[in-house]
Amino acid sequence: MPLKFRPKMVRQLGLMEYESGSKQVDLSRAAQCLAAGNLVVFPTETVYGLGADATNPSAISRIYSVKGRPSNHPLIVHILKFELAKFWASEIPEYAVKLAKNFWPGPMTLVLKRNNLAKDFITGGQNKIALRVPKNNIALNLLQKFEELGGFGIAAPSANRFGAVSPTSLNDAQLELAKYLTNNDIYLDGGECEIGIESTIIDCTKKIPSILRPGGITSELIQDSLDMEIKESNSKTSFRFPGNLKSHYCPRAKVVLDGEPKNGDGFLALKNIPTPNGVFRLAEPKDNIEFAKVLYASFRFADHKGLDRIFIIPPNHEGIGAGVLDRIVKSVG
Ligand code: TXA
Ligand code: MG
Repeated sequence: MPLKFRPKMVRQLGLMEYESGSKQVDLSRAAQCLAAGNLVVFPTETVYGLGADATNPSAISRIYSVKGRPSNHPLIVHILKFELAKFWASEIPEYAVKLAKNFWPGPMTLVLKRNNLAKDFITGGQNKIALRVPKNNIALNLLQKFEELGGFGIAAPSANRFGAVSPTSLNDAQLELAKYLTNNDIYLDGGECEIGIESTIIDCTKKIPSILRPGGITSELIQDSLDMEIKESNSKTSFRFPGNLKSHYCPRAKVVLDGEPKNGDGFLALKNIPTPNGVFRLAEPKDNIEFAKVLYASFRFADHKGLDRIFIIPPNHEGIGAGVLDRIVKSVG
């Protein structure tokens, strides 16, 4: 499929995007494609995923080779509804049931002790499994059609090469992966992702839940919904956890947070912060929610423009701001 850069302005975000050249395909065909062991790139409300039948070892090994990801890094299994979690997880603590009831479908992944369906090729050999019910309609309809064919879940990492920026539009996913996919694989176009950064990951294997990766379900929301202490994210986890490696989510341009922006830098900051002279404003999000939505597209746009540096004035920790800050810090190579 030819990939064309056709930048156009998205007015409300003040951000350039690339038009998608792909055609919509039928979800039944996409589900059949999964059942046959092929891959489907599909939208979720967080970022685009690269999906495969989570019970098929050869389909899963293709995910690893297409992404260039080490095979001991575990994958998230996307399920249609909470009731399917018992096939994948052996113990679901009371607080995890509460979280699932409150925030699924949604941008939250629960890490649980694994059950029989969760084999080493999904968990990277660990005894835990990561599960998520996504909120995006295309993702849910795909899961529904896949279940009708006997599927239990779709394993899907973000649809980017290992260490690179997650795609928030189909065109970005194609730019990342098209040359590694075949004609038997399918792309589903769901427009731009609503949230723009990956799901919140919560470790639910201990007495107290602990946030492994901040995201759209914020620590404030989690705290409010559970009548117990929670552990905020910290980087000293023993999990093999690519999103937790220091340099991740990296654009080619150098991300700079200190000093002064230089002439020709890309510049990303909230709308109320004026544009310094000589920089190229990448986006002007009005709040932390919009910051999350434009972050990765801004990185990609800076790379498309061939900029050497992206100067960022990060948002505060409030709400999804914690997730945005986490990704910005990790993008500083
Ligand atoms: O929003 C998202 O979570 C997106 C969409 C496509 O759902 N997916 C995503 O997947 O970000 P990925 O593979 O790019 O990042 C998943 C993270 C990784 O850091 C992985 O190590 C962690 O989840 N993970 C998966 N299984 C785990 C497990 N059993 N224990 C601890 N961490 C796990
Ligand atoms: Mg990823």
